[in-house]
Amino acid sequence: MIQKETTPVAPVHAIVIPSASPLTLPKPYYESGGITIYHSDCKNILPFIDSVKAIIADPPYNVGYNYGGGVDDRMSVADYEVWCRTWFLMAKQKGGTVAVSPGIANLGVWHRIEEPRWIMCWRKGDSRGRCPVGWTKWEPVLLWGAMPKNIADTFDAPIQPLDPQVVGHPCPKPLRWGAALVDKLSDLGETVCDPFMGSGTVLVAAKYAGRKAIGIEQNEEYCEMASKRLSQGVLF
Ligand SMILES: C[S@@+](CC[C@H](N)C(=O)[O-])C[C@H]1O[C@@H](n2cnc3c(N)ncnc32)[C@H](O)[C@@H]1O
Repeated sequence: MIQKETTPVAPVHAIVIPSASPLTLPKPYYESGGITIYHSDCKNILPFIDSVKAIIADPPYNVGYNYGGGVDDRMSVADYEVWCRTWFLMAKQKGGTVAVSPGIANLGVWHRIEEPRWIMCWRKGDSRGRCPVGWTKWEPVLLWGAMPKNIADTFDAPIQPLDPQVVGHPCPKPLRWGAALVDKLSDLGETVCDPFMGSGTVLVAAKYAGRKAIGIEQNEEYCEMASKRLSQGVLF
């Protein structure tokens, strides 16, 4: 079901975004070969990183997952909308493309925040997630900002048996999901940023595609998980 607004949310002009300041970024949790991880709330980091080619954001869907690390995945719809709007405005200031995996139920929230310029389709293969009409085999990826040129707007990334490297994270995306988005939204040598890094899917895909990447994650356990993945081989 599409989440409906229940109470008024803060207008865009009421949200204060930290401007660039003499503050420096904290010491990275991991840094190697152009891949950097910050262990932090993304709102504390996004204002201070340089422009990137693409932000690839897979935020919590507000469905009650337990991410640990002080993450609240059960907000009111109004609070969730304000929270998304806050980091989204920070992300948009980085230039480039902003891609958000919103979860189907949050499409209403995101259209109220800002009408996307386009919607891509992730085909999830034989996955059988429940939905009001039975089961669903796709998810949207919303795009704002600079549009990539000459790409197909659908991609296949089947949900696969859990990779042992990501056991312990409640909802890691398939590596092919990260690989497709990195490939479509950036070119060799460019930088992508994943503000909700989780198990590090986008960073691993970026590493193997010859991109630079910045990942931000609030839960230190997942920073460790991603660091280990980046230090090891890749399982497609
Ligand atoms: C849907 S998961 C992302 C999964 C990731 N795409 C993957 O493949 O593993 C969302 C992640 O965002 C993290 N998170 C939630 N709020 C955050 C915040 N304010 N700043 C940084 N990370 C946050 C959660 O701990 C969780 O790991």
